[in-house]
Amino acid sequence: MAKIALGVASSISIYKACEILRGFQKEGHDVQVIETRNAAALIPPALFDALSGRRTIVELFDDRQPWSVAHVALAKEIALFVVAPATANILAKFACGLADDFLSTFYLAVRTPVLIAPAMNEAMWIHPQTQDNVRRLRERGVEFVEPAGGYLACGDEGQGRLADPQRIIARGLDLLCRGTGLRGKKVLVTAGPTREAMDPVRYLSNRSSGKMGFEVAREALRRGADVVLIAGPVAIAPPSGLEVVPVTSAAEMKEAVDKHFSGADVTVMAAAVADFMFRAPAVRKVKKETLPAGLEIVRTPDILKELGGRKRPGQILVGFAAETNAVEAAARKKLREKNLDLIVANDVSREGTGFEADVNQAVLIDRRGKSRKTDILSKRALAAVIWDAVEGLREKKK
Ligand code: PMT
Repeated sequence: MAKIALGVASSISIYKACEILRGFQKEGHDVQVIETRNAAALIPPALFDALSGRRTIVELFDDRQPWSVAHVALAKEIALFVVAPATANILAKFACGLADDFLSTFYLAVRTPVLIAPAMNEAMWIHPQTQDNVRRLRERGVEFVEPAGGYLACGDEGQGRLADPQRIIARGLDLLCRGTGLRGKKVLVTAGPTREAMDPVRYLSNRSSGKMGFEVAREALRRGADVVLIAGPVAIAPPSGLEVVPVTSAAEMKEAVDKHFSGADVTVMAAAVADFMFRAPAVRKVKKETLPAGLEIVRTPDILKELGGRKRPGQILVGFAAETNAVEAAARKKLREKNLDLIVANDVSREGTGFEADVNQAVLIDRRGKSRKTDILSKRALAAVIWDAVEGLREKKK
């Protein structure tokens, strides 16, 4: 049995929150309802109190609740946070980090998976501001069950109706299952490129956007892990709810990895670490006329190989292989030479997958040599496949 927080905002579809509450209870879960003040004006907390068997929370400072700092204490107890129905207002508050009532303050304290089912007038739903808020929340790992089309309470027809409660419950249960596999485990993920300075204005790097590694970190977080994400210089926002260590060069990445590796149960090196660096970057900008004299290029430390040489029994080490030809053979060689438990090989010569893209295709090979080729998947879905494989390996190691 898990504890679920059910956030309820003031939409006409609020009555469907009762069915959602009951649905989770039928599956054996304990539900704590949190209403906004406007929601409590539509359905008084007493109804949810009776259905849930718990006092519904509305106010930030409520001396009827047993916790000292209620939003933080409750956030630590729950395994899933569902908001259904969610209004445009609550989406905007969550997206901006505004914390002016219990529900919005609670959102910031939550570290478990978050599932939002919006309901509103179609014009409000498709408004660029609302869509921007949804995109920002998605980027941070929030899951959505999108509104359905049909007749709306305001008399309009269009997309805006709260999705079928059974779909919301099913999605919530799905997240709940995924949300426990790595509970209590420490996960270390690297992402993005490294930059090797040539002088104060130029550097050597590669096309990694950080998307793949960020999705790997996000999925570990969804499954309940404590995640440290070591990220090279990227333009995308990291998922919230994890520790981010920003680095620039391979040497900095190695230092950060070394600091966190011994405490990690699973380490996934998705970063595209530059293979070369300048032995002695120039202190001043190198003049065009003097190039390339005096710029000696040397190998960067192979971080993953060093980890493979000193991992302890039970620790799982996952590497990536970015290849352009004979992908599987090259990946098997890296798996062996770097003493990995799993390697995720991707062909980075193909247009539209791999570097920078939102999708990727990979061959996963484990240390026994068993391989599995995926379809072209979103990087989020591929991250789930990778963690399914890691969880399978952990089972075998027990
Ligand atoms: O960031 P995106 O735009 O989403 O793109 C994703 C990706 C293509 C970068 C990702 O899927 C990927 O393939 N990451 C690994 C890139 C890479 O450096 O591959 P490699 O075959 O050169 O290295 C093999 C492994 O050794 C990798 O796990 C790498 O992190 C590690 N390595 C490499 C060099 C080095 N000096 N130290 C290392 O630890």
